[in-house]
Amino acid sequence: MRKPFIAGNWKMNTDSHSAVELASGLAGQLKDVHTVDIAVCPPFVYLSAVAKALNGSNIALGAQDVYFEPNGAYTGEISCAMLKNVCCTYAIIGHSERRHVIGETDELINKKISAAISGGLLPIFCVGELLEEREAGKTEAVVARQVKRGLAGLSSDKVLAVTIAYEPVWAIGTGVTATAEQAQDVHRMIRQLLAAMYDGSVAGEIRIQYGGSAKPANTAELMACADVDGLLVGGASLKVDDFTAMIKTVV
Ligand code: 13P
Repeated sequence: MRKPFIAGNWKMNTDSHSAVELASGLAGQLKDVHTVDIAVCPPFVYLSAVAKALNGSNIALGAQDVYFEPNGAYTGEISCAMLKNVCCTYAIIGHSERRHVIGETDELINKKISAAISGGLLPIFCVGELLEEREAGKTEAVVARQVKRGLAGLSSDKVLAVTIAYEPVWAIGTGVTATAEQAQDVHRMIRQLLAAMYDGSVAGEIRIQYGGSAKPANTAELMACADVDGLLVGGASLKVDDFTAMIKTVV
């Protein structure tokens, strides 16, 4: 049985004060929740402060990205060891904003996933199609290619560290959520692909989150889908009340 996993991606939001306030608020509101895995992913510069605010809570810390090299002359990049050093458990990798705004490739994402697992981080590996790809009937092909290339070379042991987040790009930050049926169709396809790439038991264990305008009002419907195991939440994760309500819907 897959334990639900709801993570908040704060993106490039908050400041040193509001990040700590948000984390402390969530730690207080969610202290009795044990049936859902919870994480928040603040900007790099606030990880240490948020780690302190979450200390002793049941909320894990994640980063929004990680670099694949262990150290050296990589100006601006952050290594797995650095993230572990500030108490991160998870790292989001391959978010659509990094693929489409920054230009990350499947090959780079694959290196990051592999390095994260070797370095003891749990990747939240994002995939998802653009609107024009969906309209052209290419959703399955695009997502399958991203999954195959992102996980290339990973053994079954290693891939179990991964959570996949299906985030249709047209639903991110737009207020347009995929219907439960659209989400379930792609989640089922990803799980079938994992069964083909690995085996049924690996496919049955890997959690697949949905992301894209997830909010309190659509949480129950999305989470009722057989292959939706959690949510990767952007905007609604910046409000203590909304993020708490979403998690409490699933408890
Ligand atoms: P929104 O929930 O703001 O649409 O963002 C989704 C997302 O990109 C989470 O990683």
